[in-house]
Amino acid sequence: MTSLVIPLFNARELGRKIALKSDKQLADVEVRKFPDREVYFRVDSSVKGNDIILVQSGYPGPNHALVETLLAADTCKDNGAKSITLVMAYMPYARQDTRFKKGEAFSLQAVAKLLLGAGVEKLITIDAHNWAEYGEMDLHGLKNLNISAGKLLVEHLMKKHKIEKVHILSPDMGASKLVEEAAKAKGAEFSALNKERKGDFEVSMTGKLDVKGKDVIILDDIISTGRTMLLALEKVKEAGAKRVFLAGVHGIFGWGSLEKLKKKADDLVSTDSIENEASEVSLAGEVAGVI
Ligand code: R5P
Repeated sequence: MTSLVIPLFNARELGRKIALKSDKQLADVEVRKFPDREVYFRVDSSVKGNDIILVQSGYPGPNHALVETLLAADTCKDNGAKSITLVMAYMPYARQDTRFKKGEAFSLQAVAKLLLGAGVEKLITIDAHNWAEYGEMDLHGLKNLNISAGKLLVEHLMKKHKIEKVHILSPDMGASKLVEEAAKAKGAEFSALNKERKGDFEVSMTGKLDVKGKDVIILDDIISTGRTMLLALEKVKEAGAKRVFLAGVHGIFGWGSLEKLKKKADDLVSTDSIENEASEVSLAGEVAGVI
């Protein structure tokens, strides 16, 4: 019996790195789309009696990624896998983690139920959006371990730019736990702004900043349209910071935001939960340590 890492489409590279770091075998898989865009999945290694680790990311194409994951888990279960763990580097459908309005889909609960039904026994997430805590928890019946990559991003920037003393800023209250964890790990000072979202592309921010003459890292879980980072960056510059670095665990970088933010900040980095030009920090080591 052995452990087998199965890399799914959006996390092909990350899956390979996790297998390497954890000294586990990598399975051969075939993933493609039928002409009508349905997903085809086949695992070309024996899964029978093995502990299976599926590695996936929910971006791009969260729907495709989800269906591919369900097909992979169900196939492994049917073929006699001993256990199935899913590493979801960027957790899709995490935003709708409750019914904010009557009649809305409780998307996160629905996804958890689907994964459970397909045979996933344990879900490993990285700074999943809106999770208030890190560690082991129950996600609508699914065993979940949520870990943080904040420390890795901060360490990377500090080393790369020879930052000795840093102030870590959360651009909103939602990311304050992530920022607090990273700051405590590095013995750094930290603070948070208050953000109000008025629409997908419109945000406003309030809060006092004590960053004059300091090196600041603005750390968030997701950079999507980039509006949050852009506004926080402007506020930090107005408050007289020496240098401003941006770090997002999950870099979606839509609407040309990567280029825009890069021009305005001293540096911009993300992890490889979503592969992009800024994903300088790999999650492989952290994940290998918990599987
Ligand atoms: C939301 O609360 C998250 O923590 C991020 O701040 C948000 O997803 C960033 O989105 P955007 O880049 O579109 O402002």
